[in-house]
This record gives sequence, C-alpha cells and structure tokens, in this order.
Amino acid sequence: MSRKILVLPGDGIGQEIVAEAVKVLNRLREGFGLDAELEQGLIGGAAYDAHGEPLPGVTLEQARGSDAILLGAVGGPRYDTLERHLRPERGLLGIRAALELFGNLRPAILYPQLAASSALKPDVVAGLDIMIVRELTGGIYFGEPRGERVLENGERQGFNTLVYRESEIERIGRLAFDTARKRGGRLCSVDKANVLEVSELWREVMDRLAADYPDVELSHMYVDNAAMQLVRAPKQFDVMVTGNLFGDILSDCAAMLTGSIGMLPSASLDSQGCGMYEPVHGSAPDIAGQDKANPLATILSVAMLLRYSLGEGALADRVEAAVGRVLDDGLRTPDIHSEDTRLVGTAAMGDAVVARLN
Ligand code: NAI
Ligand code: MG
Repeated sequence: MSRKILVLPGDGIGQEIVAEAVKVLNRLREGFGLDAELEQGLIGGAAYDAHGEPLPGVTLEQARGSDAILLGAVGGPRYDTLERHLRPERGLLGIRAALELFGNLRPAILYPQLAASSALKPDVVAGLDIMIVRELTGGIYFGEPRGERVLENGERQGFNTLVYRESEIERIGRLAFDTARKRGGRLCSVDKANVLEVSELWREVMDRLAADYPDVELSHMYVDNAAMQLVRAPKQFDVMVTGNLFGDILSDCAAMLTGSIGMLPSASLDSQGCGMYEPVHGSAPDIAGQDKANPLATILSVAMLLRYSLGEGALADRVEAAVGRVLDDGLRTPDIHSEDTRLVGTAAMGDAVVARLN
C-alpha cells in the first residue's frame, strides 16, 4: 500500500521552500521507486484565510490519516494582531499536541563547504555532527498549575510547573537510545539533577533504560555545563537528550554553531513512527516571495522524513548526498553566499538538488 505524505506549506517562504522539497519527492517517486502519495493541506495563516482558524479539523483529519507530514513554516505580520488562539503559531503547537509529537530530533551538522559561516574557530567545529533529542510535549511548557496570582501582600506572582511522568521520560529516553544506537553509540542526558527533583527521576529512568542498550554509552551532564561544552568543544557530543525547556535553548545554541539557519532540518515524532518534518526556521516575511529563501533545510527535512517515517534510509542518504554535491559545486542562496561561490535563487537551488539525485 502506498504511503501518504501530507504537505503543509503554511505561510511566507513556507510556500516557496516546500515547493522545492516537493520537486525532490516527486523525482524520487518517478525515478527512484519511492512509493508515496502527496496530499496538500492548510495550516497557519493560510488555513486562517481559508477557514478562519489556524488548525482546521480537516487538516487534523488529513494529518491523522498520513504516514508523515512535511511542514514549511507559519506566521507573518498580517496575523500578528489576531487574538492569541487564532494566530498561525497556535496551529503548529496544536498539531504537535494533537498528534502527540513528543520526540523532537534536531541535528546540528556543519557542512565542510560552509565552515566559514560558523561563529566558532574552524578546528572547534569542523566535521560537527550532533543530534539533539528534545522532549516536546511535556515539561514546564505544559505543566499545571500555571498562571498568575496575587499574594497576600498584594504583589503579583507568575508561576509554571515543571513536571515529568516516568512514562514520558521513558519514551523520549528510548527514542534517544535508539537514535544513538543508529549513530555513534554515545548518548549524553542533560538535566539539572543537582537542583531539581524532576531531574533526579529523569536520571534514574535514563540509567534504568541503559541496561537495555548495552551498545550505547550513556553519560549525564548538568545543563549549565552542557551549554558551556557546546560552545567550548561541541564535537565531544554524539546524541544529547533533554527535556522541553533545556532542549529548546540547547538546540538553538547548537544550531548556531553551524551558522546557517537555512540549512537546519528537524523531525517531531510520535510513538508509532509518524512524524512531522520541518525546517528549524520560520516564515521569513522579510524575504518571502523574492526567490531568496534557502530550501535546503526543508529538503534535508525530507531526508529525515524518508529515514524516520518511511524507512527509506537509502533514499534519505541519496537526498543528503545531492545536497552535499550542490554545495561542492559552489551553489549558494543569499543566506550562505560568500565570495567565489555562485548565487542562486530558491527555485534554482531546488532544481540543482533534483539534478544531482542520480
Ligand atoms: P525566521 O526564522 O522566519 O527568520 C529569521 C531570519 O532568518 C530572517 O532574517 C530570515 O530572512 C532568515 N531566514 C529564515 N529562514 C531562511 C531561509 N530558509 N533562507 C534564508 N534566510 C532565512 O524568524 P522570525 O523572523 O523570528 O519569524 C518570522 C515569522 O515566522 C514569525 O511570524 C514567527 O512567529 C514565525 N516562526 C515560525 C516558525 C515555524 O513555523 N516553525 C519558527 C519560528 C518563527
Ligand atoms: Mg526555540
């Protein structure tokens, strides 16, 4: 039976970059035996324009009937004055929560061809290839109680709650161990066990899981040290696993080691292997509609989709190799352009990747 991929371009450059990723998927279907159907859907501002809400029921239904979702980006200045629950970004949070996409995989890879775009010295980052596994549907972003109250002395107090159940820690832990097993076999669990009780439980569960993965070497690190080590010597890491809040911050930090937001893909997985794949960046309204956006983060998200949701590792390798060749050949969108490379637009970049799939 043919697999179904739901395509949600969203807003701004989402439309342009997803169009290039779809070119790649279609070429894989026509020339390389990929058995998958593509279906288009609406999310974010595009869905608001058509249905008056950022995550219409019909989109969720399409998502539930799909094996994987490819998302562009949502948001834009046109929607900034809407009430909070109607904003495009709500569509994104909504679909993550509705599908229980608890496992966020964010690779930070520095392509040798782009070594100059990192803020760090070449010998610190050359060959960097790490994977951050972030818990995405729990922790302090979702914990109850939350809100604001007035204290006895009349002062206002804001509060959120950091909670993790054992089962939540276990499922993100298993995803991380499985990921480490398929990569370099090293997993660093990041927490704040010297201060937080919830981190003690986190550590205990990770240690318990380690018994099932004798081939993976588990270590623990406090989050403040992890931030320091990421900047000091990032290549010491293979896979890192952490909670929602720490993962939000550390994954953005790791992303910037590579210096190019237009190159970074991500995956958000559920426990059945369905997942949503999207570039790390947003809808970039400043360059939307100008054929300037870098489509490679989205095309690399397609590679993750093939690998993690469709079990097509060889096709994923093929896509990543094609991206490597495009960079070897000196083609660059404006965000990664430098002297003695060739400036190309969004569509030409997509075409160049397609041409190098063979
Ligand atoms: P952004 O990631 O859209 O843009 C930040 C900067 O990076 C801009 O200068 C932009 O031109 C550049 N940039 C981003 N992607 C690029 C690409 N593929 N190629 C070349 N340059 C690229 O973040 P910003 O400006 O904070 O947010 C813009 C809108 O996107 C907002 O409405 C925000 O809420 C939304 N957003 C959506 C996300 C998502 O859909 N996952 C994530 C982050 C922001
Ligand atoms: Mg963030």
